[in-house]
Amino acid sequence: MSYDDVKTSGKPIPKGLQECIPDYRDIHEVDVPNYTDEQHGTWALLMENQSKVLPNRACSEFLEGLNAIEFPRDRIPKLRDISDSIEKHTGWTLMRVDGLVPDKEFFTLLAEKIFPSTDFIRERSEIGYTPSPDMFHDLLGHVPLLINPRFTAFFEKFGKAGVEAFRRGHPGIKMLPRLYWYTVEFGLIKNPEGLRIYGSGIVSSPNEVLYSLSDEPKKIPFTVEEIIQKPYDIWKMQTELFVIDSFEQLEGDFEAWCVKEKLL
Ligand SMILES: [Fe+2]
Repeated sequence: MSYDDVKTSGKPIPKGLQECIPDYRDIHEVDVPNYTDEQHGTWALLMENQSKVLPNRACSEFLEGLNAIEFPRDRIPKLRDISDSIEKHTGWTLMRVDGLVPDKEFFTLLAEKIFPSTDFIRERSEIGYTPSPDMFHDLLGHVPLLINPRFTAFFEKFGKAGVEAFRRGHPGIKMLPRLYWYTVEFGLIKNPEGLRIYGSGIVSSPNEVLYSLSDEPKKIPFTVEEIIQKPYDIWKMQTELFVIDSFEQLEGDFEAWCVKEKLL
């Protein structure tokens, strides 16, 4: 049987996924877990904690996305509902995954405008910190910017560049995860009101929100060339953070680097 024959919820599997992620399933075909009251309570507590610290610290683009998505405050949302909300704005959708996705598959999903999200919530004892990203990180951290067309324009190019890097065995295979770390996960941005956060690793953690805008981590103007040479440590608070002027700069500088490297 060819994958062209397989339909999911009436939609064909995106062409780019057919070889790389043959077990791709449309989000509407995935069963929703039966969460316990305690798990819904964990989500509510995380939402309450973050809603106290994000105003005036997260960037305006993120906060606009957060308002538009209207995450439930007292219960865990269904991935399919969040996916439908995103799709109305930018055409991006979610795919349910068990956990971290290997880089090649991750790039392929992004190139197809699909963001992978887990559907499990951290233990109550891990409210402040969880070693493996859970659905609170994936949804609250990443989704608000997935409805911002300027950010998604960058994100789609990032995925396509990664696919091309793997196809050619280009060193971008090692460089692009660094760029992802210092922008998508831990990036800061200059808003007209001042320095703000857009990195999902920061916005989904109360401790990181306060720490990132303190004097402690060094703030460095964003350049692709510097970031792609800089390794990162996932187990420590970040000592250096990169600051973009705008999402236009992020997209424009990244595209220029990709063109130079023949990745786009
Ligand atoms: Fe993340």
